[in-house]
Amino acid sequence: MTDAMIEVTRLTKRFGDRIAVDHISFSAKPGEVVGLLGPNGAGKTTTMRVLTGFLPPSEGGAKIAGHDVVTDSLNARRNVGYLPERVPVYPDMTVREYVLFWARLRGRRDARARADAVIAQVNLSERRDTLIRNLSKGMRQRLGFAQALAHDPPVLILDEPTIGIDPRQVIEVRDTVRELGRTKTVLFSTHILSEADHVCDRVVILHQGRIVAQGKPSDLKRKLRPDATLEEVFLSIIGTERGAGK
Ligand SMILES: Nc1ncnc2c1ncn2[C@@H]1O[C@H](COP(=O)(O)OP(=O)(O)OP(=O)(O)O)[C@@H](O)[C@H]1O
Ligand SMILES: [Mg+2]
Repeated sequence: MTDAMIEVTRLTKRFGDRIAVDHISFSAKPGEVVGLLGPNGAGKTTTMRVLTGFLPPSEGGAKIAGHDVVTDSLNARRNVGYLPERVPVYPDMTVREYVLFWARLRGRRDARARADAVIAQVNLSERRDTLIRNLSKGMRQRLGFAQALAHDPPVLILDEPTIGIDPRQVIEVRDTVRELGRTKTVLFSTHILSEADHVCDRVVILHQGRIVAQGKPSDLKRKLRPDATLEEVFLSIIGTERGAGK
């Protein structure tokens, strides 16, 4: 038994001959904010899709709150909220209709009250009757958070929540992630490595489907240089790999 809320064990995902995720293992404890970092194509989304039950693993596995994502997928999915890379849009629904729809889909008996609470939590109360088509990109992203939070899951998986929004809203999203991390276990991905510095207790750095480093950002940086950035840490590792002829 382990107290990990997210437990990934030698997880591997192949698409035909292509190996997208290659025997990765990591975990996240209750209340931890873990960053899944890596450049385009590193395997971040694939990992998250396995964790949320959208893709079966090829080998190895994962557990959410102790529930296997394959053999106990219903319970695994009950415990996780997912903000996908591309949030599906229903342009003709209002904010409230959309969140209510999700609260009901997620089996909340108090769906109305829950929808209002979540809308308030993501700061969209003033927009509750606005059509989704009329929301700014940043507001749509907040609506995506509301969808992920609809059933109040203990684990949140957020795929590049800051992509494509302006710098002010990036700060807002970071604050939201930090705030959520006080009560929930959060796994969030980004290809902007420096972003993780501000938000994560721990980072897992992926490159070509493999974990090349993991740990506290401060520890990883200190090993290289006191004032190093996570980008520099990443480049130093990749450089070493190339140097070693991999
Ligand atoms: N459904 C699929 N079929 C075939 N190959 C796929 C599929 N999904 C992902 N891949 C491949 O798996 C690898 C990892 O992709 P993935 O989307 O997980 O990376 P990522 O880290 O999320 O990248 P990005 O930062 O661009 O979102 C890539 O080489 C990608 O082309
Ligand atoms: Mg991705």
